[in-house]
Amino acid sequence: MKKLRVVQWTTGKTGTAAVRGMVGHPALEVVGCYAYSPDKVGRDVGTLAGIEPIGVAATDDVGALLALEPDCVAYMAYRPDFDHLERILESGVNIVTTMYMLAGPGYGEDVRDRLAAACERGGSSLYASGVYPGHAAMTVLAASAMCSRIDRVSLLESLDMSGYENEKMFRAMSIGLDPDDPAAPGMIEANCGSFKEQIRVLARALAVDLDEIRFTAEFGAANADTDFGFMKLEKGQIAGFKGVIAGIHAGRSVIECRFVWKLGHDMTPNWPVEEGYLLEIEGVPGVRVRLQPLGTARFDGAVTTAMPAINAIPQVVAAPPGIVNHADLPFVKGTHLLTRVDER
Ligand SMILES: NC(=O)c1ccc[n+]([C@@H]2O[C@H](COP(=O)([O-])OP(=O)(O)OC[C@H]3O[C@@H](n4cnc5c(N)ncnc54)[C@H](OP(=O)(O)O)[C@@H]3O)[C@@H](O)[C@H]2O)c1
Repeated sequence: MKKLRVVQWTTGKTGTAAVRGMVGHPALEVVGCYAYSPDKVGRDVGTLAGIEPIGVAATDDVGALLALEPDCVAYMAYRPDFDHLERILESGVNIVTTMYMLAGPGYGEDVRDRLAAACERGGSSLYASGVYPGHAAMTVLAASAMCSRIDRVSLLESLDMSGYENEKMFRAMSIGLDPDDPAAPGMIEANCGSFKEQIRVLARALAVDLDEIRFTAEFGAANADTDFGFMKLEKGQIAGFKGVIAGIHAGRSVIECRFVWKLGHDMTPNWPVEEGYLLEIEGVPGVRVRLQPLGTARFDGAVTTAMPAINAIPQVVAAPPGIVNHADLPFVKGTHLLTRVDER
């Protein structure tokens, strides 16, 4: 089988896991890599991902990357560059991304329309996934096929996040601020914008019209000064959140993305965590699905975020032009089983 040619866009937390997941992938090969950080330009992508060199050097030359005529870009930068995204799509190259705000109008109707138009011009597709938002929703949609009636769909991510070493991301969410800081509620809500897209995608998939999407969250404060290795928190600072983004239909919450996110467990309130995802459908029948790590204490969040996008590349390349989501794609699955067996 001819492998699909993929350009990896940045090698941060998620991008590194994506590169590792593509090396040895039966359907994909890494042919290029975009570097945002100047010191990564010229370095081998395998080395940047902490594995053996693969003979592909990272570059910041977008034209050179598009000249490789890749089938897909795996776009995993910290922040979107809309000029880059438009240029990639209109050149006919598909995009998978973990930036779920790109699934809909999260960055504004104008941005969504601009990228959709670029897809049309280039005959390309844009697909946003990840784990949450992303694959957790695809899993609950698969479970919903068992139901003759659906009253409410609820997704919960409940994690101690201290294994995801990304201080910039946590600080942007308001971790480390005083719980009374007036900026804190807006910061966590802004960082949950992607879940509003997730609610819209689920509503479309389940054919329900929403009147509004509501956000509520509460803060947990650290009980003591704590050094997590990659960042420090002082006693009393925000160390975690519990909240819900709810899609409302006829005054009733019908689709819910819930979260309990904690840095460690020494905080007040000290909400219990599931260390995974709890997906529930109230209906006929009621259904509960758990996604939990087997054999380890925690999921590696970089892997569970990157792989739902990477494993969707064949379906996204085959999809009709436009912004596509879980309801548009054929079943996305892992493909590493034989590779893993061969490696033993
Ligand atoms: N859907 C989900 O389940 C889920 C879960 C987690 C994260 N995410 C999203 O996935 C994306 C990647 O997350 P991550 O944790 O891997 O990010 P990250 O490690 O913080 O950053 C990824 C890369 O972005 C580049 N970068 C750094 N600062 C930048 C800036 N100001 N503007 C543009 N690019 C910048 C760097 O590229 P170089 O490699 O060149 O240095 C960096 O390595 C984010 O948009 C995040 O919100 C989604």
